[in-house]
Amino acid sequence: MLQRIVKPVLLLVLLVLTHRTYATEGMWLPQLLSGLNEKEMKGMGMKISAADIYSINKGSLKDAIVSFGGFCTAEVISEQGLLLTNHHCGYDAIQKHSSLQNNFLENGFWAKSAVEELPNPGLFATFIVRIDDITKAALQDVKPGMSERERQSVIDKRLNEIKQGARKESWQDVMIKPFYEGNQYFLFVTETYHDVRLVGAPPSSIGKFGSDTDNWVWPRHTGDFSMFRIYAGKDGRPAPYSKDNVPLKPKYALTISLKGMKQNDFTMVLGFPGRTTEYLPSEAVKQTVDVLDAAKVEMRDAALRIMDGYMRKNEQIKIQYAAKYAGTANYWKKWMGEMQGVKHTNGIGKKQQYEADYRQTLAANPVWQQQYAGVLDSLNHYYQEIQPYAQTRDYYSELIRNVELFSAADRLITFLNDVYEKGEGQYETMRQQFLDGMQPFYQNYSAKVDQDICVSLTDLYVKGVPAQYAGSEFAQVWQEYNKDSRVLAEKAYGLSGLTSMDKLKAFMQQPYTTVVAQMWKDPAVRLVMALRKGFVENVSRPLADLQANINNLQRTYMQAQMDVMGNKKRFYPDANSTLRITYGKVDGYTPRDAVQYDFYTYLDGVMEKYIPGDYEFDVPAKLIELYKKKDYGRYGVNGKMPVCFIASNHTTGGNSGSPALDAYGHLIGLNFDRTWEGTMSDINYDPSICRNIMVDIRYVLFIIDKYAGCTRLVNEMKII
Ligand code: ARG
Ligand code: ASP
Repeated sequence: MLQRIVKPVLLLVLLVLTHRTYATEGMWLPQLLSGLNEKEMKGMGMKISAADIYSINKGSLKDAIVSFGGFCTAEVISEQGLLLTNHHCGYDAIQKHSSLQNNFLENGFWAKSAVEELPNPGLFATFIVRIDDITKAALQDVKPGMSERERQSVIDKRLNEIKQGARKESWQDVMIKPFYEGNQYFLFVTETYHDVRLVGAPPSSIGKFGSDTDNWVWPRHTGDFSMFRIYAGKDGRPAPYSKDNVPLKPKYALTISLKGMKQNDFTMVLGFPGRTTEYLPSEAVKQTVDVLDAAKVEMRDAALRIMDGYMRKNEQIKIQYAAKYAGTANYWKKWMGEMQGVKHTNGIGKKQQYEADYRQTLAANPVWQQQYAGVLDSLNHYYQEIQPYAQTRDYYSELIRNVELFSAADRLITFLNDVYEKGEGQYETMRQQFLDGMQPFYQNYSAKVDQDICVSLTDLYVKGVPAQYAGSEFAQVWQEYNKDSRVLAEKAYGLSGLTSMDKLKAFMQQPYTTVVAQMWKDPAVRLVMALRKGFVENVSRPLADLQANINNLQRTYMQAQMDVMGNKKRFYPDANSTLRITYGKVDGYTPRDAVQYDFYTYLDGVMEKYIPGDYEFDVPAKLIELYKKKDYGRYGVNGKMPVCFIASNHTTGGNSGSPALDAYGHLIGLNFDRTWEGTMSDINYDPSICRNIMVDIRYVLFIIDKYAGCTRLVNEMKII
């Protein structure tokens, strides 16, 4: 009798336990792991301690991680400052060193010795020396009832003092950032190296294999890596570029493991995630996907379709527009994945459930009642109010961004405003700088493509933006063109002085006063002036005011959630480009009914996707040869070459290039993307389908060693 009851209960308990006993959501602060996460991490299989990850007394994992140029992550993998990051993170640098004769994007690049390593002005690598909690001091002068502006001003004053007084070495810097929507503040002492040289990169047919078609997609087969080296002055400290600089002797360099991963193995990713918004009310999430993402996707959809049409017909345009297309497509695809993912996982419904729980728990406590009653309702109210403004902002910025003639006009107007502010006398010197800045723009510009995009996107703008926000000046111009975007575009592209570098130069050659007087006659400038005016007069102010109210309430709501729901949920701060650690397990997923994704891909998959001569799926001959001979050296397993794998680490943009580490803190892969179905992790992480994509370190080493024959690099690494 007893047995019959106990058994199913036991089974149920076991099922529940094996199903979810750990959380993979979260981008945690590395200095707080011992209190918050260490136990769970060990429970999931981690074999090192929190102090091995972050310590200020000894070299720890964090000392091997750098913010790479502020937009990606990289890690030190040798005692000589060798850095590993993604191919798409090094892309600009690789492109800048490329020419038709030496096309490193196409053929790859491998410095055969230190002298061949190439400097990259402007590129930097920043280490985190120390992180301090300064919340108390930062908020010391904040009084209840202060307006948002007052509050910020007393905080800024304090932060300035704290910054001045921070303990640091002369070559180090101090940075302070708000966390938890401004409820906490942390100070970072950093060390930035400005001599970062390009060491190696595979050809794009490996480093960007699959290109846009495979971007955000699993199963993936991209060898998305490139290598750099940090150089320091002879004293080991940061120094501007000099040929006398020496390779950095790092505080810590990662050890590489060739063991590979099995299902459910513990993994962690250390890096610099850029931005997430995980604590919005369901109302705001709904708005993000239904209204804002939808508007942006609609605009980019049209622009991409037109670019693609031309790129397929015209080789020259294909080259000119490849990077632009990729840049536009990246977030277009991400937003679509986000829209679908929220729906697929019932993200809104789950948030609503959470909010109901929050409201109920709050109601039971008089203190919280007093502090937080009405916060969520007010937030919802403001989100409703901001919606048309936010939507207009997105239409507006997508219009200016994607119609390049409008971007050019926008830049010109901004430039002329700058001159006005600095004084007419500055015009000639500033003009040269401006023209230099515009040069690359025109190198890859086709007025024909752009004109079609203009027609299509202007229509969408007019349809999507209510007339009172677009403004009367725009209405007038629009009327003059008979409300016909074709007529508008014919005028603009036919008569504007901004459709080529030569015309722009000739126009700017005139004296400042003439330029300012004449620019009104330029139809593109006039149009953008009207658009800008409409935006500034009808949208920016209410948008900023509403946003200030929302920020204020989000901060209170954040604190409220931490107080009210603190027993049921662990809270991590939203990403803000500071060093974070996320951990999870190697695991596949089920994106939709009857489809099950495995967690590893192999070189066989590269060959399955191979399309000879294709710009996305070509495979270099040497790689095919190695594949045919199964010449994988120590990097293969059972006659196969692993390429990519996925796990449930919570990552976002900026985490590209982050190291994937195993239970011992050894380097096993390089993070570079997420799976498309799970891109909503930025607003609503769901462990069922959110996965990060990493290239296996064995594939990276196989390419360096066997494909490129660059053994000098492999020899400086510590491999176990
Ligand atoms: N989706 C990745 C990220 O957001 C990779 C982007 C680069 N690759 C590309 N094909 N555009 O940055
Ligand atoms: N691909 C992104 C990056 O470049 C990473 C991501 O969004 O998952 O940072």
